[in-house]
Amino acid sequence: MKKNTLFLRTINKELVDRPPVWLMRQAGRILPEYKAIRAKLTGFKELVKSPELAAEVTLQPVDLLKVDAAILFSDILVIPEAMGLDYEMIEARGPFFPKTIQSKSDIDQLLTGKKAADRLDYVYNTITEINKHLPENIPLIGFAGAPWTILAYMIEGKGSKTFSLAKKFLYAEPEWSHFLLDKITDSTIHYLRNQVKAGVQTLQLFDSWAGLLSMEQFNTFSLPYMQRIKEAIPEVPLTIFAKGAMLQLQEIAEIKPDVIGIDWNISPLRVRQWLGADTVLQGNMDPCLLYATPEHVFEETVKMCREFGRNHIANLGHGVYPDTPLEGVKAFIAAVKSISYLE
Ligand code: CP3
Repeated sequence: MKKNTLFLRTINKELVDRPPVWLMRQAGRILPEYKAIRAKLTGFKELVKSPELAAEVTLQPVDLLKVDAAILFSDILVIPEAMGLDYEMIEARGPFFPKTIQSKSDIDQLLTGKKAADRLDYVYNTITEINKHLPENIPLIGFAGAPWTILAYMIEGKGSKTFSLAKKFLYAEPEWSHFLLDKITDSTIHYLRNQVKAGVQTLQLFDSWAGLLSMEQFNTFSLPYMQRIKEAIPEVPLTIFAKGAMLQLQEIAEIKPDVIGIDWNISPLRVRQWLGADTVLQGNMDPCLLYATPEHVFEETVKMCREFGRNHIANLGHGVYPDTPLEGVKAFIAAVKSISYLE
């Protein structure tokens, strides 16, 4: 088990020299080398289900951009698929589920827990394949969607600005909502444990649609399920990234994730005021900064790192946009690497 990586040493609060850096969605369309592999295939899903190719695109940002962590190339939507709801990834539009959850009997029919997680062998094979090639000093991040975000796709059936069908379900059918969240949580726990067994060193939960919930809904329908996942997998550190829920950072801290993901809607100084200097935080540059000149990107990134101080993993406040210029990405990484806490 790799322990001596800048990323894991930061999580363990050791005295590192600088923050580690990686970018959410680093494996993907920002790299021409990714697009070249993708162009030879029928689509995104074929890539996700081909362990050797998925491993290759996982390793690309490590080789080409020299980031300090690799993230498994997959998608959060493999869980609904394993539970019985197939998805399509429509070019330039995003995910689409031909069948969605409409009734309690739809929920009854879903596969759950080990049965669902055991259908994701291709993911575990990708992890094995990645570890054959990943440098010793680079950890592999496994991930899953947070239960609320997965429920949102299972009900809505596609991306949406409001996810109003999914939110209607929470209001109209709270019991079924909990029943479904429970099944998603069980499946996710088995899935993440299998990822750890296959060889990931750390995990991240993406609650991409947390910001659509009221505070009370977040506390009722999202947080308790993330807490269950945290408590079920003590073996490796867990990052919780609840996008849009920055006013609930205190509640998130209470469930004791090892790292808290920060979006760009809050300043590093304010987060430090709220959570103190000891909490390990990941984030939070606005992905749109990377469209600016490399000099500007560099300057703002150094400022961000200085404001977070120690106990920080440098990243964006959400996934990198596909049309981001590589010079911006490179300036971001170079700026983080120029930091020295010892100065
Ligand atoms: O580099 C990485 O971060 C690893 C791979 C990864 C992907 N998706 C690959 C992907 C990760 C961690 C995800 C997570 C994911 N997937 C989230 C949570 C993070 C977030 O952005 O909030 C969500 C909400 C999804 C669902 C999803 N997958 C959508 C809405 C889309 C379409 C929009 C888009 O970005 O294209 C995807 C497709 C997807 N997932 C692509 C990639 C590389 C693009 C597909 C392609 O190559 O054609």
